[in-house]
Amino acid sequence: MNKAFYLETFGCQMNVVDSEQIAASLTSLGYSQVGSAEMADVILLNTCSVRDKAERKVYGHLGRFKPIKDKRPDLIIGVGGCVAQQEGEKMLEKVAFLDLVFGTHNIHRLPELIQDVEQNRKRGCATTFQDRDTRLNLFPERTVQESVTRFVTVMQGCDNFCSYCIVPHVRGREISRSSADILTEVKGLVAQGVREITLLGQNVNSYNLKSDEDVTFPQLLEQIDAIEGLQRLRFATSHPKDLTDELINCFGSLDKLCQHIHLPFQSGSDRILKLMNRCYTVAEYLDKVERLKQVCPQIRLTTDIIVGFPGETEDDFQATLDLVKQVRYADAFTFLYSPRVETAAAKMPDGQSALQKQKRFERLLDLQQQISAEVWQEDSDQVLAVLVEGQSKQGEGQMFGRTTWNRIVNFQGPADLIGQTVTVKITGVFRNSHIGELVEAQ
Ligand code: SAH
Ligand code: SF4
Ligand code: F3S
Repeated sequence: MNKAFYLETFGCQMNVVDSEQIAASLTSLGYSQVGSAEMADVILLNTCSVRDKAERKVYGHLGRFKPIKDKRPDLIIGVGGCVAQQEGEKMLEKVAFLDLVFGTHNIHRLPELIQDVEQNRKRGCATTFQDRDTRLNLFPERTVQESVTRFVTVMQGCDNFCSYCIVPHVRGREISRSSADILTEVKGLVAQGVREITLLGQNVNSYNLKSDEDVTFPQLLEQIDAIEGLQRLRFATSHPKDLTDELINCFGSLDKLCQHIHLPFQSGSDRILKLMNRCYTVAEYLDKVERLKQVCPQIRLTTDIIVGFPGETEDDFQATLDLVKQVRYADAFTFLYSPRVETAAAKMPDGQSALQKQKRFERLLDLQQQISAEVWQEDSDQVLAVLVEGQSKQGEGQMFGRTTWNRIVNFQGPADLIGQTVTVKITGVFRNSHIGELVEAQ
């Protein structure tokens, strides 16, 4: 009988892409993917350590697998991703029934690690960072899946060292992929039926910033925009300090580039931004937002915000609320600051109580929810272009797609619309999605 693996993915889109590589690697070993841990011979978690809660979740999940392992000692359990990279051997010590740990630069070693457990019951740990060439050569055997939208990695790692962030520590130094490789991959995906590409990196704006041997990020966007058959292009995520005029202008000149940018600001206080090592001021950030809106008046922004950074005062927090009111983000991911090992902020004096932080967090959430509702309400009764992605979970005969602003729209329509851009009249605006009526297929 075929051997089976079960894979659960936490964290950001980087991990989604890594999981596609993990799945391809297991498939090459003769394993097929199953949707339940009980049916699997190998259970893998691809993990995130960006906040303490995410890290604790991993241990919680592992605990769920213990009874399965007790019944079937041959079962192989492994942990990959950012928690694995951070903890390494310590994870094997902490979790006695864990068989293997593989870090963010060691997905390629998975077959060897698994075979070692299968054949010798040898527990394994691989967390050494690989050099640039090895990493670039490892791109990317991924599982093939029929899909309208796909992620394509353009760069990996991060050199920014924002003082609160674990990512540079667990993902390693920044490397950019060659534009030739990226273009080949995108063309291949479009030939398979993919219609929308999201270019991925911890900070795509710094693509090739330290090298003049290859194209800049805006030039890469231009080349991808020209690929026939592709309908839409997005990228995530952007660091405001590296958002150049050249890149801002792309929102005016490239037809396929969606009118949406995720531009995390983290805090509206210059004092906190400095402590965060973000390398921009509020005025500089707002100036870039203004220029984005000049070049592309329809653009909608989303952002990330941290509440409760060490030493944050009521004035600092008020400045964050002011920025949110001024920019009017369509959506915001709001986070309570979580101290991470090895980071500079973890050693900074604080002085705020947990209750104070929680109250601020709720005030921010209330404000953002009100603004989001107002922004999305503007779509009501509008006829919008929607790229149809698949059958909706909402019910029989319902399809779903997204607007240029990345908003999900559910509507009644035939399945052969998948992959096409249609127009839909928005008839209802909910918290996380719209509902509409099909106006016209292509
Ligand atoms: N590279 C991306 C961010 C990756 S992490 C970028 O710079 O845009 C995603 C978000 O998690 C960050 O934008 C930040 O808002 C949040 N985050 C990161 N570290 C955090 C921490 N220690 N505590 C709380 N939130 C954090
Ligand atoms: Fe973390 Fe800052 Fe790098 Fe984003 S840019 S991954 S927040 S260090
Ligand atoms: Fe989490 Fe690692 Fe992404 S820490 S946010 S999965 S880079």
